[in-house]
Amino acid sequence: MDKVIYTILMLCSIVPTALPMVHGDGPSTKKNWFKKLPHKNQKATHLHFYLHDIVSGPNPTNIPIAMSNSTAQSPTYFGLIAAIDDPLTLGPSPDSGIVGRAQGLFGSTSLEEIAFHMTFDIVFTNGKYNGSTLTVVGRNPFLREYRELSIVGGSGVFRLARGTAILNTVTYNSTSGDAVVEYNVMVLH
Ligand SMILES: *[C@@H]1O[C@H](CO)[C@@H](O)[C@H](O)[C@H]1NC(C)=O
Ligand SMILES: *[C@@H]1O[C@H](CO)[C@@H](O)[C@H](O)[C@H]1NC(C)=O
Ligand SMILES: *[C@@H]1O[C@H](CO)[C@@H](O)[C@H](O)[C@H]1NC(C)=O
Repeated sequence: MDKVIYTILMLCSIVPTALPMVHGDGPSTKKNWFKKLPHKNQKATHLHFYLHDIVSGPNPTNIPIAMSNSTAQSPTYFGLIAAIDDPLTLGPSPDSGIVGRAQGLFGSTSLEEIAFHMTFDIVFTNGKYNGSTLTVVGRNPFLREYRELSIVGGSGVFRLARGTAILNTVTYNSTSGDAVVEYNVMVLH
């Protein structure tokens, strides 16, 4: 399974990577890494996975934290704040192999359409990037077919990362609120 994930995650990497795992390094190793940084080639990596946002049932991965008195009357849930810990998988099926998790917060911040301001980390828990993270921030107008969020940083293999994530909803059950969202992440690091 590890090998499959490795292959798929690396599929579109432009420059072959020779970096050892760096997450959990101590300060001296990090200093050394930083000193060599100006002489290193920048890598461009394409990551592809699916996020499972589960609102319904006994084990939701998306839970409301707080809302204003007026949120319940708002057609756009304006003022709702929620936490997510959504599993990320290789394919659209929930049992297609775990890549990692999307952990963070979002707030409903538009009066005109359902749009969330999101701030979360993609935490890799398997394969080549296990232990590394990418930090994602941006506006997510959830009902549109495509959305674009910014990759503003990262850790481990993805230190100093920047890039973009294109989101595309694969399935959305408007009764339960559950959704599967395809992620194409292009990252320089
Ligand atoms: C919100 O609703 C509660 C309960 O009805 C009320 O006590 C409180 O004053 C309301 N807050 C605002 C800001 O309207
Ligand atoms: C990922 O890394 C953690 C912490 O180093 C380790 O405990 C775990 O076994 C690793 N998982 C996989 C699937 O390699
Ligand atoms: C959508 O969610 C409802 C309520 O949980 C469920 O009854 C229904 O089967 C779901 N539809 C699909 C296509 O999964």
